Amino acid sequence: MPTVLITGAARGLGLDFTKQYAAKGWKVLACARSADGLKGIKGDIHHHALDVSDYKAVKVLAAKLSGEAIDVLICNAGVGGERDSNAQDLGTLDPAEWRRIFEINALAPLMMAEAFVEHVARSSQKKMVALSSVLGSIGNNNGGRYFYRASKTALNMEWSVLAKDLEPKGIICLALHPGWVQTDMGGPTATLTIEQSVPGMVKVIDGLKKSDNGRFLQYDGSELPW
Ligand SMILES: NC(=O)c1ccc[n+]([C@@H]2O[C@H](COP(=O)([O-])OP(=O)(O)OC[C@H]3O[C@@H](n4cnc5c(N)ncnc54)[C@H](OP(=O)(O)O)[C@@H]3O)[C@@H](O)[C@H]2O)c1
Repeated sequence: MPTVLITGAARGLGLDFTKQYAAKGWKVLACARSADGLKGIKGDIHHHALDVSDYKAVKVLAAKLSGEAIDVLICNAGVGGERDSNAQDLGTLDPAEWRRIFEINALAPLMMAEAFVEHVARSSQKKMVALSSVLGSIGNNNGGRYFYRASKTALNMEWSVLAKDLEPKGIICLALHPGWVQTDMGGPTATLTIEQSVPGMVKVIDGLKKSDNGRFLQYDGSELPW
């Protein structure tokens, strides 16, 4: 059976990715700061404690998993910024919050990609997926949320560069928007449930072909403007 590595695998969209792939019989390398959310899920699930902004720990984990072939790497862990905070508003911008959001949303996925490139390259499916957001789209921008938007724009550029650099290894790189989903981050008024979003994303990932390398898609497979 194929293997998937998921970051932020014990809560929100990441937890449902874990459930979906486990239900398909895949081996799931479930990376999360705490294993609490994984309790009771049946399947071939292996928890690895990981804070994605601990880049040394990312390298240590990659070395520990050096024997693994990882078919799908899903860089899912992310932060939206403190709720009810004005740290991302023009006039009260907080540089410390910019750094925190960029460390997790933009730098950590790239460090994951660097650390796990050979694990993915030796697999059958060879896919690297970054959970991006339409809020990172410059072509579809309606203002606000400076830090979160910019962190996802940076992530998109990184995945676009990876698509070019890793093409000779046969790796397919995809930036994927889950839709606006009812998680802790998306909030209760989001338009989609987790059950509508994640199975859609799994279907998109399952269907990826070499010609999809370097695309920016959403959960239903439709294209988004960069
Ligand atoms: N929900 C939406 O509407 C929406 C829309 C567009 C894009 N996205 C993207 O989808 C991804 C998942 O979002 P979500 O809605 O599931 O958010 P969520 O419910 O807030 O969950 C965030 C996840 O990221 C993990 N995480 C945060 N910082 C981390 C760190 N330093 N190290 C390891 N894990 C960390 C959390 O782990 P802990 O449990 O340890 O905190 C949790 O698993 C994010 O990249 C987000 O930007 C979401």
